[in-house]
Amino acid sequence: MSTDTVLYKRSYVFSFIIRLCHWLRAFAIFGLVVTGFYIAWPFLVAPNSTNVLEQGWIRLAHEVLGFILIAVTLIRAYLFFFSRSNVERRSIQDIVSPKSWIQQIKAYFWMGKAPHHGAYGPLQLMVYAGISIAAIFMCVTGLTLYANVYHLGIGGMMWEPAQWVAYAMGGLDEVRKWHHYITWAFIIFVLIHVYMVIWTGIRFRNGSADAIMSGYDYHPVNVKKADNGNHPVQHHAHHDNHSKNKGH
Ligand code: HEM
Repeated sequence: MSTDTVLYKRSYVFSFIIRLCHWLRAFAIFGLVVTGFYIAWPFLVAPNSTNVLEQGWIRLAHEVLGFILIAVTLIRAYLFFFSRSNVERRSIQDIVSPKSWIQQIKAYFWMGKAPHHGAYGPLQLMVYAGISIAAIFMCVTGLTLYANVYHLGIGGMMWEPAQWVAYAMGGLDEVRKWHHYITWAFIIFVLIHVYMVIWTGIRFRNGSADAIMSGYDYHPVNVKKADNGNHPVQHHAHHDNHSKNKGH
């Protein structure tokens, strides 16, 4: 048996606001899926009951979470394009480079390293773009349904565009149906997303979920042969605290 000393470079990738947005969005989506499915199938109250409050409260919770998702979607889109740090935008280089795609696919099969001009791999960024478009779709259809439930305030302001969206989609029932179908995109996304976070941590030993909790990720930079196994593995992490790659 031999023991190696592994050096890790620590870099600050995700700022506080990015991490806050991530967890707010995770919380909102989880709540929206649960309350949304309840709205679709209100199993707690008998069909002929006069209790309409049950459904009302759950719909209120859905709408509050919906407005949180709308706010986070807007802030996050702004930060992606205009934040001071370009750590996310740099990944666009990998999306347009066939070489990066090949390198990424090979890395998935345990061959070599993933390309990393920025925070994400090419497939990862593409999936995130897809789920962001799905979030925008949910916000637009959600607001259309909202305007048809509340006719005052924001609902009233939204009445005209909501009419237009319902017309373009072939009626309000189609809006509701698609709002329901696309819910499944989020369920499938979350399952694969969590799996890939764990897989990436095992495959690349980069701290995995750490980046979205503490803001830092870790990259093994050097492997040195140590005294033929006489010493335990020493992780020289935390050296590079002053990385120039500051977050957003
Ligand atoms: C990932 C985000 C979202 C998910 C997973 C989701 C899920 C759902 C589901 C499954 C339904 C039930 C549809 C049915 O009747 O079959 C629903 C209804 C609804 N959603 Fe969402 N939704 C999301 C975002 C939003 C947003 C951003 C809003 C905007 C405020 C919103 C407002 C509504 C409204 C008003 C209804 C109809 C309530 C009713 O019929 O009483 N949703 N949602």
